[in-house]
Amino acid sequence: MNKMVLISGTANPDLSGKIARYLKTDLCEVLINRFSDGEIRVRIDENIRGKDVFVIQPTNPPGDNIMELLIIIDACVRASAKRITTVIPYYGYARQDRKDQPRVPISAKLVANLIQTAGAHRVLALELHASQIQGFFDIQVDNLFAAPVLLEYIKGRKFKNLTIVSPDVGGIKMGRAFAKRLDANLAIADKRRTGADESEIMNIIGEVKDSDIIILDDLISTGGTICQAAKALKEAGAGMIMAAATHPVFSGGAIKNLERSVIEEVVVTNSIPFKDNGESGKIKVLDVSPLLGEAIQRIHLEESISILFV
Ligand code: R5P
Repeated sequence: MNKMVLISGTANPDLSGKIARYLKTDLCEVLINRFSDGEIRVRIDENIRGKDVFVIQPTNPPGDNIMELLIIIDACVRASAKRITTVIPYYGYARQDRKDQPRVPISAKLVANLIQTAGAHRVLALELHASQIQGFFDIQVDNLFAAPVLLEYIKGRKFKNLTIVSPDVGGIKMGRAFAKRLDANLAIADKRRTGADESEIMNIIGEVKDSDIIILDDLISTGGTICQAAKALKEAGAGMIMAAATHPVFSGGAIKNLERSVIEEVVVTNSIPFKDNGESGKIKVLDVSPLLGEAIQRIHLEESISILFV
C-alpha cells in the first residue's frame, strides 16, 4: 500500500496532532475555511493520488462537523486517493439508532449512508453508542473500545470494595467487562427516560452499601444520567463515587451539574474537545491518540487490530 496520509478536519485538531505525533508523521496540508455565505470550503494542498488516506473528524454537534467530513471525503475521492478511511473518534447522531416511537428518524443510519455515499471505503470508530451501528454501513467498520485507556488509569487508583455501576441496561455488557477485569462487583441503575434529555433513576439493582463505585457510560451529555445515578447510589449507602465515560459530549450545564454532584472524579477521553472554563477540578481527560494511532498504523499495514481489544 502506498504512503499513509493523515487529514484532519477542524472538529478536534488537538487529537489529530497527537495521532500524527504518535505515527511520527505530519498532517497533510489542507485549507479548510468558510465562504462568505458560511458554506464550507476545503482544498487539499498536497498530492494524494493513489495514497492511503485517513480523515480524522469526530461528528459531534454542530452539524457542520459532519458536513465538513463529507466534503473532505469528496475532495479525497476527486483527488484520486486510493483508499479513504474515516477516523471518527465520536460518532454523533448515534443515539437515534432505532424507531422506538412513531414518526422518528434513524439518524445513525442516515449518517452512515452519507459517509458511504461521499466515498469512504472504511470507518475506524471509537466506542460507538451501540456496536450494531457497524451493520448500518456496507463498508468495513472497526469499532475500538476505550477500555484499555480507561482501565489503565483506573487500575492505578485505590478502591475499597469496588462496584461498577451501569447507569442503564444498554451499558451492562461494558460494565460486566470492566467488573471482570477489575475483579469488582456489578450493579445497575434502573433508568427511565422521561423526556428527550431527561431521565429518572427508579432503583439501584445490586448491593452497593459501603462500596466504592465507578459509574460507567459511553458518553456524558447533560450529565443528568450520571448525576442522578450517583445521587441514588449515595442514598443507597455507597462510598466514594467516580464516573468514567469515553465521550465528553458535555451539553447544556453538564460541567456545572457534575461539579455540584456527589461524584468525586469524572474520567473521560479526548475523543471530543471541550472547554471547562476553569469550572471543574473534577474532570480528568485521558488521551486516546495512541490507541487510534496504533489502529491507523495497523490498518495501513493490513495487520490485525485485535490486540487493541484486550
Ligand atoms: C444513553 O443511552 C447513553 O449511554 C447515556 O447514558 C446518555 O446519553 C447520557 O446522557 P445525559 O448525560 O444527558 O444523561
